[in-house]
Amino acid sequence: MKRRSYGIRWRTKLAVLLSLSFCIGTLVLIRKQHDRILSLDNSVSSQPHPKPKIAFLFIARNRLPLDVIWDAFFKEQEEGKFSIYVHSRPGFLFNQATTKSRYFYGRQVNNSIQVDWGEASMILAERILLHNALKEATNERFIFLSDSCIPLYNFSYTYEYIMSSPTSFVDSFADTKEGRYNPKMHLVIPMHNWRKGSQWAVLIKKHAEIIVNDTTVLPEFQKHCRRRSLPEFWRDRPLSIDASKEHNCIPDEHYVQTLLAQHGLEDEITRRSLTHTVWDMSSSKGHERRGWHPLTYRLSDASPKLVKTIQKIDNIYYETEYRREWCSSRGKPSLCFLFARKFTRAAALKLLDTGALILN
Ligand SMILES: *[C@@H]1O[C@H](CO)[C@@H](O)[C@H](O)[C@H]1NC(C)=O
Ligand SMILES: *[C@@H]1O[C@H](CO)[C@@H](O)[C@H](O)[C@H]1NC(C)=O
Ligand SMILES: *[C@@H]1O[C@H](CO)[C@@H](O)[C@H](O)[C@H]1NC(C)=O
Repeated sequence: MKRRSYGIRWRTKLAVLLSLSFCIGTLVLIRKQHDRILSLDNSVSSQPHPKPKIAFLFIARNRLPLDVIWDAFFKEQEEGKFSIYVHSRPGFLFNQATTKSRYFYGRQVNNSIQVDWGEASMILAERILLHNALKEATNERFIFLSDSCIPLYNFSYTYEYIMSSPTSFVDSFADTKEGRYNPKMHLVIPMHNWRKGSQWAVLIKKHAEIIVNDTTVLPEFQKHCRRRSLPEFWRDRPLSIDASKEHNCIPDEHYVQTLLAQHGLEDEITRRSLTHTVWDMSSSKGHERRGWHPLTYRLSDASPKLVKTIQKIDNIYYETEYRREWCSSRGKPSLCFLFARKFTRAAALKLLDTGALILN
């Protein structure tokens, strides 16, 4: 009897065990099938994968005088690869009445501020643009452009050039020039992190986030980095001795580069700008006023030769550092510039109309 009941109990246990493992096995199979269906589903719904986008961030006073040029640059079939944000004066609207290009309709950020050129408000405008552009997860690169910038190449060349670099492009050099670094900043920004360069940068997402997140360097800039006076004002008057003792700090030409140096991220930047600018030194005497006037190309300057000359540049010489930067892209020698400034509307239109600038 004992033996039999033992045998029955054993058999019952075995049966329970067997059916349990059958159940588990079935569950696992169902689960696997389910996952397979889900993943199939996924791959179907996300086909084609969203392409990483370049965010074009325009800083304008009012309208965009070169909107027609950019209209030729942006392509309908490339619409998944770019997004546009414009910072113009508060309340300005981009619509059929204010722009000839549909790409700009409704692209003014709705929280813009009044920008005083050369003041910290320029940095704030850049942050507002980045903040808006970061809301769209597919934006992977962020380009600052002025209202007088033109593209030098077609969209696909520009896109490949920028996306193939894992770094930001930020013109940046150690700035030892007396008078621009304000020693009052030294507790937060040590002199060895002080950098200067062009504000027309191309940023990777990580760096864009660092700028938007920054709560330490920006307040120092607002307090201690100010432009001495307007260049237009200087043109007519010799520098007074007093004025030359004031600190002359141009916030937007120091902020991004200094912030990235503060974060120890300089190995993540290519230290040059992709935007070509010529500094007009014709009216300057000595080095003090140098760099104040970016040259503006007017109608009579606009020629195929001008475009070719800028496009051909393959190295940049940094006088202050005795450094020559040979431009490269994807590890190979390349042309340095994708954009150029400053162009009047008439000059830019002439380049497009005469075929000097080919954007199609
Ligand atoms: C600006 O636009 C965002 C959405 O993009 C919206 O959430 C916000 O309320 C708007 N702000 C104003 C002041 O209209
Ligand atoms: C874009 O420009 C590049 C370089 O100038 C050229 O090689 C390429 O054929 C152009 N592509 C299109 C789609 O126009
Ligand atoms: C910036 O701040 C956001 C929100 O706090 C955070 O998710 C993100 O990781 C930060 N980015 C960087 C690069 O510090």
